[in-house]
Amino acid sequence: MTPPRVTVLGAGNMGAALIGGMLKAGVVAAENLTATTRSEASAAKLAERFSIVATAGGNRDAARMADIVILAVKPTSIAKVIHEIRDGLRENQLLISLAASLPLAVIESEVRLLMPVFRAMPNIPVVLEEGAIGICHNAIATRAQRDLVESLFRAVGIVAWVEDEQMDAVTALSGSGPAYVYIFIEAMIAAGLKMGLSRDVSARLAEQTVLGAAKHVRDSGLHPAILRDQVITPGGVTIAAIHELERHGLRSMLISAIETATHHSRQRTNALLEQINLPNS
Ligand SMILES: NC(=O)c1ccc[n+]([C@@H]2O[C@H](COP(=O)([O-])OP(=O)(O)OC[C@H]3O[C@@H](n4cnc5c(N)ncnc54)[C@H](OP(=O)(O)O)[C@@H]3O)[C@@H](O)[C@H]2O)c1
Repeated sequence: MTPPRVTVLGAGNMGAALIGGMLKAGVVAAENLTATTRSEASAAKLAERFSIVATAGGNRDAARMADIVILAVKPTSIAKVIHEIRDGLRENQLLISLAASLPLAVIESEVRLLMPVFRAMPNIPVVLEEGAIGICHNAIATRAQRDLVESLFRAVGIVAWVEDEQMDAVTALSGSGPAYVYIFIEAMIAAGLKMGLSRDVSARLAEQTVLGAAKHVRDSGLHPAILRDQVITPGGVTIAAIHELERHGLRSMLISAIETATHHSRQRTNALLEQINLPNS
């Protein structure tokens, strides 16, 4: 199979993280990667950092050259960029949108061509190739095309296939999720300080505890409730702390937060469609 040519339109934070991961994993070669930005300065930085062709503007030509076109501009710029490139798109290209809150049907109707369209929701740990990425696809995408898209995103994390309707929940759970975990770590560090540990010791112990516990859940394949139970000694220290967490409703708080964020993401779709003047899907 010939290596795919990939174009990232709007290679800012997320686009650059993807480019870095794909190059590092070797799923795309630098000579097969192109990126665009709005400003000359950003394009020059990308070209220097990754040794790829990067241009300010030129979305149409960049998209035409690629087998896989990744739309990584902000959601409010998506329609403008699709209008710019759509005359040059082909049925055998793959189009991947990273835009939050923009359903597949909206992208499809703007593209006006029956082609494989994907929607991916990465999260910020993709910069360390430790992202969690939810992806959905339209009815046209084949198994082989899905495998190809999965191989690109596996370069920067784990991939979970979902339905388009579930992308708001993915946004709320893993898209925004790092922010919740940062608060958890921050609170643990504050607790360590309150109990007299130094800043450095508190920070190192808190971050490694979260990292180690997450790896334990993932690598053991066990439900976290089982692992939690294994740490509890009857009448011991851990159950005393868990009682406090339950009393203050930590679990219920997180469920409510993710439920609220899911609804917010759904509402944002309508606001976004009005803002960029697109029909509601
Ligand atoms: N960041 C996240 O954690 C995250 C998570 C999930 C999904 N996403 C999605 O990823 C997408 C990008 O987010 P981001 O955080 O990476 O944004 P960002 O850092 O602002 O990057 C946007 C990029 O688009 C470029 N751009 C703007 N207009 C353009 C145009 N007409 N043609 C070509 N390039 C253009 C900008 O160029 P200049 O640099 O020259 O201004 C910039 O490089 C969004 O749709 C967002 O919903 C982001």
